[in-house]
Amino acid sequence: MALARTMTGLVLITYLTTHFLNHALGLVSLDAMEAGRSWFLLLWRSPLGTVLLYGSLVTHFGLALRSLYRRRNFRLAPWEATQLLLGLAIPPLLATHITATRIAWTIFDAPDTYARVVTGFWIFRQDLGFLQIVLVVIAWTHGCIGLHFWLRLKPWYRHLAPWLLATALLLPVLALLGASQAGKEVARLAREPAWLQATVLRPDPRSADDRVLQERIRDGILGALGASLAVVFLARAARRLYERRRVVRITYPGGRQVTVPAGATVLEASRFAGIPHASVCGGRARCSTCRVRVIEGAEFLPPASVVELRVLRRVGAAPSMRLACQLRPTRDLSVTPLLSAGAGPADALGHTPGAGREQEITVLWPRQPVHRGRRHGAVWRGAGPRRWGAPGPRGGA
Ligand code: HEM
Ligand code: FES
Repeated sequence: MALARTMTGLVLITYLTTHFLNHALGLVSLDAMEAGRSWFLLLWRSPLGTVLLYGSLVTHFGLALRSLYRRRNFRLAPWEATQLLLGLAIPPLLATHITATRIAWTIFDAPDTYARVVTGFWIFRQDLGFLQIVLVVIAWTHGCIGLHFWLRLKPWYRHLAPWLLATALLLPVLALLGASQAGKEVARLAREPAWLQATVLRPDPRSADDRVLQERIRDGILGALGASLAVVFLARAARRLYERRRVVRITYPGGRQVTVPAGATVLEASRFAGIPHASVCGGRARCSTCRVRVIEGAEFLPPASVVELRVLRRVGAAPSMRLACQLRPTRDLSVTPLLSAGAGPADALGHTPGAGREQEITVLWPRQPVHRGRRHGAVWRGAGPRRWGAPGPRGGA
């Protein structure tokens, strides 16, 4: 699943890169944009390109919903939360754009040339033009966060990073500058009613009924998106009720205990309780920095998945070691995190000498603050039971 998410993310980033390069041609002229577009369409409107693009979009969205469902809480590192929120903002913004371009072209044969689309955004619907700028920034930032936090685990990334950063900053800026230059050009051309008629208004074969249908399609897509999110959150609520009946107690070094529903990962338990716990890849079974030694309860643990086993093998992990981000205990257990919470990308996957060796680390539990409300009554300092359901301070890397 992690591989599918990365691969579909890569297809979408490739699409965006070619799309932005095409927009950037607006800095040359509107004609250059249209010429670039014919190459762009050759790739992305071919049967293969279509399956790749829309297959990736749907799969990626599906995997995002799955990931939303599987998370037992939303205690995330800031970059994970940003990525998640930006990702969820993309589909509603994209729905209008795709309906007005690819879907209108497929169903009504409506041309979606740059001249028509830019005229729409620049002259007739500046509100939609603004939302389009927001979409460019959101989708690109989301993709770049994903790419950066994946690639930073690769030893060679350090050398390429400055170049990639420069490209990541330049590309959307050039795309937006190209689009605005094209906007100025169409504004000038549209002063000529004959150009507006010939290029923008007349080539549109859509009747008033077609336009109503197009709006219904867009509303249908938005409704389906909303419904799928609602289903995920309803399923989460139902699971919460069910899982309340089965809890497990995880004991950390120093005797600190956290009680969580069976089904949560050990990393989620640590984050929930505010126990610092390394997680360089954000719980995606890539970095191995979350690994723990299971002290007690190993005999009742579910076996490691193929993905977890692969990572454990790569760092030469002892049999008692598991990845906290993948381990979902069903009975009480006792664990020791093996890397300090400050572990960074260099500690991932044995990049540093001895990283694969099991090392006992001393964990100094921070003094926990006492908060208002539900937290009163819970034993909160040092060792003592900590129950799922009450908020805790943010933890993890
Ligand atoms: C359909 C709208 C999208 C949604 C709802 C979405 C959502 C998500 C979520 C939630 C994640 C993190 C998954 C997790 O928490 O484990 C993610 C990862 C990612 N997304 Fe998206 N995304 C969308 C579109 C895009 C687009 C347009 C791009 C390309 C610019 C993209 C590129 C990536 C990349 C590269 C990753 C990281 C993959 C990884 O770490 O394995 N996504 N997306
Ligand atoms: S957090 Fe990276 S492998 Fe667990």
